This record gives sequence, C-alpha cells and structure tokens, in this order.
Amino acid sequence: MFLRPFTQRSVSLKGISSAGKVQQSMLRPFASTVARQLELEQNQNIPDKLKASDFLLPRHIGITPAQEQEVLATVGNKTIEEHLEESVPDSILTTNLSDMFKHDFAKVGEIRSEFLYLENLKEVAKKNKIFKSYQGQGFYPCLVPNVILRNVLENPNWYTPYTPYQAEIAQGRLESLLNFQTMIADLTGLDIANASLLDEATAGAEAMFMAYSQFNKRRNVFFVSDQTYKHTIEVIKTRAEPLGIEVVVGDPNEYDFSDREDIFGVLVQNPGINGNIQDWSAKAEEVHKSKGFFIIGSDVLSLTMTKSPGEMGADIAYGLAQRLGVPMGFGGPHAAYFAVKEKIRFKLPGRVIGVSQDAHGNRALRMAMQTREQHIRRDRATSNICTAQALLANMAAFYGCWHGPKGLTNIAERINYQTHILHDKLTELGYTLHTHKDSMFDSIAIDISNEDLTKDQILSIFEDHEINLGVVNDNTLNVSLNEATTLADLEELITVFGKVKGKDAHVDFENTSYSGIKDSLKRTSEFMTHKIFNSLSSETDMMRYIQTLADKDIGLTKSMIPLGSCTMKLNAAVEMIPVTWPEFGNIHPFAPPSQTEGYMQMINELSDYLMAITGFEAISIQPNSGAQGEYSGLLTIRNFHKANGEGHRNICLIPTSAHGTNPASAMLLGMKIVAVKSDKNGNVDVEDLKAKAELHKDNLSCTMITYPSTHGVFEEDILEITETIHKYGGKVYIDGANMNAMMGHSSIKTIGGDVCHLNLHKTFTIPHGGGGPGMGPICCTKELEPHLPGHAIIPIDGRTKHAVCSAPYGSASILPIPHAYISLCGEKGISKSSALAILNSNYMAAQLEGHYEILYRNKNKKNAHEFIIDTREFKKTAGVTEEDIAKRLMDYGFHAPTVSFPVAGGIMVEPTESEPKIEMDRLCDALRNIREEIREIEEGKADKTNNVLKNSPHTVQVVSSDEWNYPYTREKAAFPVSWIHSRGKFWATVSRIDNVYGERNLMCSCPPMESYE
Ligand SMILES: Cc1ncc(COP(=O)(O)O)c(C=O)c1O
Repeated sequence: MFLRPFTQRSVSLKGISSAGKVQQSMLRPFASTVARQLELEQNQNIPDKLKASDFLLPRHIGITPAQEQEVLATVGNKTIEEHLEESVPDSILTTNLSDMFKHDFAKVGEIRSEFLYLENLKEVAKKNKIFKSYQGQGFYPCLVPNVILRNVLENPNWYTPYTPYQAEIAQGRLESLLNFQTMIADLTGLDIANASLLDEATAGAEAMFMAYSQFNKRRNVFFVSDQTYKHTIEVIKTRAEPLGIEVVVGDPNEYDFSDREDIFGVLVQNPGINGNIQDWSAKAEEVHKSKGFFIIGSDVLSLTMTKSPGEMGADIAYGLAQRLGVPMGFGGPHAAYFAVKEKIRFKLPGRVIGVSQDAHGNRALRMAMQTREQHIRRDRATSNICTAQALLANMAAFYGCWHGPKGLTNIAERINYQTHILHDKLTELGYTLHTHKDSMFDSIAIDISNEDLTKDQILSIFEDHEINLGVVNDNTLNVSLNEATTLADLEELITVFGKVKGKDAHVDFENTSYSGIKDSLKRTSEFMTHKIFNSLSSETDMMRYIQTLADKDIGLTKSMIPLGSCTMKLNAAVEMIPVTWPEFGNIHPFAPPSQTEGYMQMINELSDYLMAITGFEAISIQPNSGAQGEYSGLLTIRNFHKANGEGHRNICLIPTSAHGTNPASAMLLGMKIVAVKSDKNGNVDVEDLKAKAELHKDNLSCTMITYPSTHGVFEEDILEITETIHKYGGKVYIDGANMNAMMGHSSIKTIGGDVCHLNLHKTFTIPHGGGGPGMGPICCTKELEPHLPGHAIIPIDGRTKHAVCSAPYGSASILPIPHAYISLCGEKGISKSSALAILNSNYMAAQLEGHYEILYRNKNKKNAHEFIIDTREFKKTAGVTEEDIAKRLMDYGFHAPTVSFPVAGGIMVEPTESEPKIEMDRLCDALRNIREEIREIEEGKADKTNNVLKNSPHTVQVVSSDEWNYPYTREKAAFPVSWIHSRGKFWATVSRIDNVYGERNLMCSCPPMESYE
C-alpha cells in the first residue's frame, strides 16, 4: 500500500545493468545522480572515507562520545545499555532493533547526509504539481512578504520558543499575538479575539460547542447554513454527534428562528459557497429573540470591505487567517481566528493574551484568563486547545502590520475588481452564475448543469492549462481569485472559460469599470487604527520591529528550554528547509491526487516510520495537535464500540496525574470521566484502577494513560494496567507526548496500547513556534483502523466521515520536518536519541541530588527522560515558591522548566538528547546556586520578602537605575555566577508580572491610537 522511498534508486540500479536504462538515466542525469549516490553511500564495501560525512545525528546529539562516558559514570553505569536496563522495566524493554522495527522501517534505510537528504527530498517534492489554484473554499494562494518569510517563518528566534507561559521572557511574541487579537477584533467588529485556533473547521465546531455550553444541555439543536464549506460542516457533525447535538443543515432564509427555543445556535458563512455575502442583521435579531447565539464564519480579507460580523449582530465570528501571508501548504499550518462579544468571553476557547503590569507598574503582557484553560480546569475546561498556531498567528499579525488597513483594503479591492471583470466575462460568455456581482468578494459559483461538457471534462480542460477550479457539487464549479492572481492569470482564466464554450474570449483591461459591493454591505467603520498597523512603512522598520520583538524572548537560540512534558529538542536547520519550498507550500489541500504524488510519498514514508516506532498497523495523520490526537483517538475507540453494538460504553478512566487535555478531550466526546488515584510513588494506583474498571465494566470505554508517566517514570505495572482494561472490554489510549523516552527500546503496542497520539512537535522535531504549530497523528491497531478520521472531499483510504479538521492530512507542510529527522537519524539514531534523553535526565537529576529532593524514581533510583524537583518544603522554610525559582532562573539566562505540573510545588526538568553537556551543567549550577540563595533566606542572612528570588527577574532598567534600595548587590541580582559574562547576559524586559492586576483589568487588544498622542 505504501510507496517506498528510494524508488529512483532501484530504477537507476536496474539502469546500470541494462543499456537502455542507462540511456534513460542519462536523460535525467540529476535524478539518477542522487539515487546512485544514495546507493553508493549504503554500500558497506566502499571505504567510509570516500563517502559523505555531513551527518545530522552527531549534530543532533548534544554530548560527544567522550562526554557520554563521563555522564554514564556520573549516573553509575558503564554502558548506555546497562543504563537503559535500569531505567526501563524488563517486561517492556526490547533491545533487538530489528524486532522493534519489523514494520518495514529497516528496509527503507537511512540517508545520513544532510545534503543528499535534501537532494532526494527535492526530487520527491517535484512530483507535486504546482498548478494555479482557484479552488478557494477557505484556502488561497497569497504573497508571503519576503521580510516576514525570512525574519519570521525561517527564523529560529521565532519558530523555536515555547508557549509564553513564562511571560517575562516572552514579551516579544506576546506583543505580536496581541497585535493579532487586535486586528481580528477590529476586522470582525467584536470585543475580544483569541490567539488562535487550529483551522477553520475546528473553529466552526468550537463556536458550536461554545454556544452549546451556554445552555447547560437545555438546548440541543444547532442550525448550520448550507452555504458553509463542506469540510466545516463535516467537522461540526463529527463534534456534534457524541454530544447528542442535532445538526440541521439548511437555508437560514427559509426558517424563522424567533421562537425556536430548541436551537442554541445558528451558523452562517460569508461569502457562502455560492460566492454571495449576505447582511445577516435581521436574522441575528431573530435568533437573539429566542436567546440563541448567532455565529458568522467570514473570509478574513473580505472584512476590510464589508460590514463586519459584529455590525451584523454576530455573537461569535470565526475563520482562517491563512490568506494573510501564510502559504496554503496542502492544508496547513495556519491560524484560525475566533472573536466573541464581551459577555461570553469566559467560555472563549484557546489562548487569550492580555495586558497587565509588572512589579514596577510598567505595561507587561501575559496570557489572560488562564483559569479557563484545559490544563487547570480538566473536564470543566472550555476546550481542549493547548498547542495552537502561534507562529502562524504571528505571521498574520506581521502581515497586518506590513500592509496596514489601507494596504489590506487595497489587496481586497484589487481581488474584488478582478472578480468583477471575471463575472462580466463569464456572463458575456453565457455562463449561468449563482453569484451576484454586487454582493460577492472573490468567488464565483458557476452552474454547469446545462453546459455541453460534463464537470470532469471542464475540469480537465482547465487542468491542461495547469489550472485548478473548485468543485462545489456535481453541478457547480467555483472560481476564487486571490492576492497572487495577476492580470495575465485572469486573462488566461477567461480565455480557458471561453475555450470550454468553444468561443474566443478576451479582456481589455484598459476599459473595465468597477462598482464594488452594494452600499448596504459596505464597511463604513474604521479598523486597525492603532499605531502599530500604521507606522511600519519601510522594510528597515519592519525588519527591526520583528528583531526587537525576538530579542525580548528566549527561544532555543538563546538557552535550553528544559520544559518537562514538552521535549524542546533541536529543530535542525536541515529539517526546516523543505518547509518553505514552493513544491510543499503552494499546494491546495483539495488539489487533485494526481498533483500531490510527492506529498503522498513523503506522508506515506513518514506514516511507515511512525507505525514502526509505535508498533501499530494503522495511522491517521490528520490531527493538528496532541490534544486533537487525543480527541481523534477517543473518537476512534468510541466509533469502534458503536460499530460493535456497544455504543453505551462511555466511561473513560483517567489517572489524576494526566495532562489536562486528557479529561478535556474526553469531555468533548461526552464521555464520563472517572479519575484513578496515584499511589505515593506517583504511579497509577493499580488497585484503584482495577476496582474502577470492574465497577464500570459494562460501560467501560477506555483508559487514557501517559507512558512513561507525566511523573517521568516508566511504571512497572503498565502491562497489568492495560491487561485489566482489556479484560473488561475497554481499549487503551496512550498519550504519546513522552515518546521521546521510548523510541527504539519499547513501543506503544508492546505496553498494551490500542491507539496513541504522537506530538510531532515534541519527539519528532517540529518546532513549537511559540505555541504552535503542532501535529498529533494517531497510530492504532488494525482492528480500530476502519474508525479513523476520514475526509469528505479527499477520502482517506475510502473513509469520508469523522473528519477532525479542515484538511485531509492536517498541517501537511510541516511533515517534512519529522520525515527529515527520522530519515536522517535512522532507526539506530532515533533509538540513540531516546536513550540519551533518558541518560541526560538522569545525569541532571544526579547533579542536583543532595541539593533538591527528586521525586518519583523507579526501584533502581532512575527516572525516564524527565524528572521532578520538589520545592514545597521551601515555602515553609523560606517563603519561596516554585514560581520564584522559575523567575530567578531568568536572571541566570534560562527558560524555566515546567512548573506546577503534574505536581503542585514541583519543577519538571526535561533536557532532551540535544543539549550540550556544558549547557546542562550550567543549568544545574544555576539551580544549585539558587538553592544556596534559598538557604540564605532560611538562615536569616537574606530578607524573607525582599530578596533576589522574590524580586526576580531583574531587568536592565532596575539594575542600571541610579536608585538601588535592595539588600544585595547589583552583581548578585544580574550576574550571580561568573559564566553569565562569557555566555552572554539575557535581560528580561519586564519585571515580575502582576497576574491579579491583569485579570481584574482585562484588556486583550492594543491600546487605541489616542493613547499614543
Ligand atoms: C502529556 C501531554 N499530553 C498532551 C498534551 C497536549 O498536546 P498539544 O499541546 O499538542 O495539544 C501535552 C502538551 O503539552 C502533554 O504534555
């Protein structure tokens, strides 16, 4: 079923043995050279000295082989194998790699040379055909401003940071995300926007859930306009069914909603799939009469010209910000936007950036309303969104800054003008159009039911001209113009429409007229009047603004980011390079399969790798984040039970130590969550699990287990846990966020899992982007395969239902990243990655032992790839909290580890395999030094409230001020250890942020223009 890589290689091999083939390969010398070189590289009999040496693996690994011995000695082991044996339970440890990778992984081989990998992937990418795409349906070619491409998308200062939980060292991206929120709130005419959601279809589904949850299950009908994108309707249906929501799809104009007290919400879309924009004001009023919620999905660019959703009475507006300077990328990643009225802001899904102040009263930004977030509220969360699409929201925000309101309007009007010309010409040619010229934006729907040619014949004429049109249904085609449409493109488009009719068609651009949209739909309100959208006119300004923001943040370019549970490993440059290749960027997600062969080859190879690593037989690449993977995996289990006549099985057992997205995902599926206790060692309390599985055996759907556990331990009892669940007819969902501890020496199948997600943005090197993108594909058993997500427009292995996001393969354009990592490291390299991730974690724990208490280790006193430091004692002895330690680390130039998860009062450290020994040593040194600073408070040498920890982080403003009233020196504040001088001092730009002030004075957009006057 799967295409194998290196197909060119076998072609060229045959070529050598037959004269005809040699000639053929000489005709295509480049392709065969790469293939031939790969072959030679893998020939064991050729001396290594003759071969390439630009390997990724030794660069991906942070420590040298000599240091590995030192590190092993510190943890008391002689070999890495011995160390693994002490860390991983015997019952699940597989050291025989060929057993482990029996799923064809071994056959695909390795390309260790970075240069050759890119050459080879380029050949694969070239199998994608870049046609002019007028398919629309939410995805549009656009012009990525080069200044943003180079300084943001291709810049590790922007793509390597984590979600801005540590706000003091994240002011740059927080400011940019605030710009995004401001732009969206203004464009939609609503009070508050988030930053951001995963894709348009899930944003539509989130809107439904938000409206639904306002009624506390008292209403269960959701009305969706039949003018909504098919993929959005499909995801809404996926999300509605498990909650018992009835989705009615129809023409809202034919309904009177004023007394429909069963309907909790009505969703419409502008423009609709027929290209028309409608003023929904009267309909919104009608829905409000019955207290329902009115939701408008809008094309983001059209909002510069048309009355906003807020002005039409919408309570919620959603859509996609892709066409604001983010490539289509065969479906993503892109940021979806979401905005609401003030009164419902507490149920807003996703992350919201807010304005607060720091300890000195300076303006400072932070993530607001965190108490709504899944990681705190668990099954009472407003959504399961964790990783979102921060990098893409930042790109869109910079696009807004670059063009400003006038520039955006000009782009929109140019598109609209071109669409007018096309409308005139199509009418002249005798086409029947569903779209009204005075109420359209960029799209025209053409009725082809009375054409002489069939839909497929018409499409194939366009394909001959390397043009793709959209298909609305068998009788309707769609053409959507975009920012990248040139006049020459328009001319060609019109000519081909003429050809279909057997007529010559020309356009005289010098004699065209433009009437725009009708007055009643026109936007009259101002938007994006803030200084930031009206001041960056030169590229110099723009470049410096982007850089100034980046300088405020800690990404992997500045320090290790030892966030437990997040696996902030190297995102190697070679892995990132293909992401911005046009062959991957400029492909519409619904492009005909004949044009996406390169993508499919790469995706199939990656799928093979991931199945091999997890031990499973089936995969869905679709989910756009780890939490979406959880949702999809549970949905797959749910649908499996349903298909077996056991739809009543809806109990999900979740350990209390689980990440908050686990219960939040189960909640979105209407499952009943039963919490399982942890024992004193932090492990799942097996007796409690057994008792609860037995108690709920008739309705047991599944359990969700994180392995190794969120406490950073390979639990010994895992097989007993999974066997218990299976005994009672349940399935085992494994949260694979910690897969970086397992690759190559155990698998999810080995530990008894039925389905798992993998966070490709953790273990598999997709950078975290400051809060996304991410990818959470799920792997499962053959038995569950028929129930995996499908796609309504591009069926996946014949599956058309249960889509979980807009595009068939999710955020496909970032898949080359894990593909590169796994291909370049090979099976031995990824196993080595995991082994060293565990070793480094034990090394750091050993360095800190005696200074801090390390929680939860196994019987050999070993932890997995992360470990937890207990800081609870310090609260009693010195009034110091885990937060104080996290903020003080900023003075040492470090991003803090994970705080308060999974243990309140804990700090969880995960070094990964990519960190150099010197950096790990420095972090240990900083933490030991901080311990001494705590001791000074304990011993009364330092004040309990006025000390280096409580006053951290110390900004340059504080340290360089003429006034210095602190009971310690400036040096102690900012340069507490000597190596900070040589390493280069990182300065937090704000002091400790006042969270309470931010919540009390909630403000989630940029200050208005007047505040600058
Ligand atoms: C253990 C665990 N599970 C699930 C998730 C959710 O993944 P995502 O953020 O990709 O939605 C996380 C994220 O940090 C995690 O640590």
